[in-house]
Amino acid sequence: MVKDEEIAARSRRMEQIRRAMLAAPEFATYCNEKRPVFGEGALTADLVLIGEAPGGCEERLGHPFVGPAGQVLTEALAQAGIDREDLWITNVVKCRPTMEGVGGRLRNRTPTPAEVEWFRPWLLRELDVIDPRAIVCLGATAGSAVLHRALRITRERGIWFDGPNGLPTLVTYHPAYLLRRTQDRDDRFGEFIDDLRTAGERAA
Ligand code: URA
Repeated sequence: MVKDEEIAARSRRMEQIRRAMLAAPEFATYCNEKRPVFGEGALTADLVLIGEAPGGCEERLGHPFVGPAGQVLTEALAQAGIDREDLWITNVVKCRPTMEGVGGRLRNRTPTPAEVEWFRPWLLRELDVIDPRAIVCLGATAGSAVLHRALRITRERGIWFDGPNGLPTLVTYHPAYLLRRTQDRDDRFGEFIDDLRTAGERAA
């Protein structure tokens, strides 16, 4: 199939997955009337980046990684020599997990295991459509959802594992974690760039 036809076919398959997810009876339970944020980018990407879940900016704008963590990611990708537009970028959980904070304001929270389990098969279907050469999981939630086991970023970042369908899968820091670091931020950011560069080379 020529590339345009392939992209059109993948776009249709992706749309079917989105519709099926939105129509699933459990969707309302897990999304609770929030605006879902789906993966986006190049449908024929060789490299897929997977985050945890959209935050407030992502929910408002309807795109993954467009808030402060997204800025860190974009900067790291540029330094790794990777064009963000060549990637498919998505999250395990497609709706912003929230809890009530001070004054009743909604705050982000880590997705529950039940949320991760419910969204996981949709993520696997999404990966089937993109059919990349490699995956990068941003943070422990994404890493453990994709590898389907507990993991420790401190011990396992920068190592290649067999992911879904044997896909080479690398786990690295979540960019929001880098934002929170104070003392050693430059060192961790350097490791993050190295991981992204390695993944870009592996997927090329
Ligand atoms: N954090 C994530 O894990 N995903 C986003 O899209 C934004 C912030």
